Amino acid sequence: MWWSALTGRLEQAKALDPVVERVAGVVATVLPRGPVKDALHGTWLGHALHPMLVAGPIGLWSGAVLLDLTAGEQGRDSARRLVGAGVLAVAPTAASGWADWSELGLAKRPKRVGLVHAAANLTTTVLYAGSWLARRRGDDRRGRALALAGVGGLAIGGYLGGHLAYAEAVGVSRTADEPPGPREWTDVAAAVDLAEGGLLRVDVGSRAVLLSRVGGVVGAVGATCSHWGGPLEQGAVQDGCVECPWHGSRFRLTDGGVERGPATNAQRAYDVRTVAGRLQVKGR
Ligand code: FES
Repeated sequence: MWWSALTGRLEQAKALDPVVERVAGVVATVLPRGPVKDALHGTWLGHALHPMLVAGPIGLWSGAVLLDLTAGEQGRDSARRLVGAGVLAVAPTAASGWADWSELGLAKRPKRVGLVHAAANLTTTVLYAGSWLARRRGDDRRGRALALAGVGGLAIGGYLGGHLAYAEAVGVSRTADEPPGPREWTDVAAAVDLAEGGLLRVDVGSRAVLLSRVGGVVGAVGATCSHWGGPLEQGAVQDGCVECPWHGSRFRLTDGGVERGPATNAQRAYDVRTVAGRLQVKGR
């Protein structure tokens, strides 16, 4: 298909990289890591926020176009309100998208596609903002034409957004296909190999498990960061959490919960015990 070939070329478009770098610098300044950015990621929700928010503008603008095409004069006011509400809904939607995009680290392909995805959405927003203004001034014909043109932008933005999620796995838990923990207690390491305040990665079948000892309490959670697959055993231990070395997500060492984004999905947690100087883990 020509559009998937085009998307493939977009992924390889190194010419976009200077723009990516510049925009990334602006986003990092406007949206530094912290509670606001975490809220935009959806860390508080345990789920990426952006895919939920995109339903707002898409649904509102699609409804407006449907009214334009089917309701005639009767639908004029409702269509204008829907267009305006869609424009208002763009602000949080775009902010959450930029927050996620800015934490892709060294992954260049999704950053390039994400940049064009944002450009398509910006163009669409301008078209619908113009549509609302035209309707407000009584130029309903122009308002309908701009809204109809915006459908093209919605389709392009939606296609690229879907590509980011389904082909580039942006926002997808990198540990979603990790098998559940073993049903039986499984020997993994000698207790003396895990120092106080330390981390130890062990393999349990195909699972990578991170053992920790903080204040004498031994914890066991998945060792692969759910955000983008970072190696948590290389992270720092702080306040009962491990901080991912790649983008700074923090996970509680006792239950894998997310204390700080950009990750939104918790790490899998395991039961752990010490028997005769050996550490054993079991799935929860
Ligand atoms: S891979 Fe991004 S925070 Fe861990």
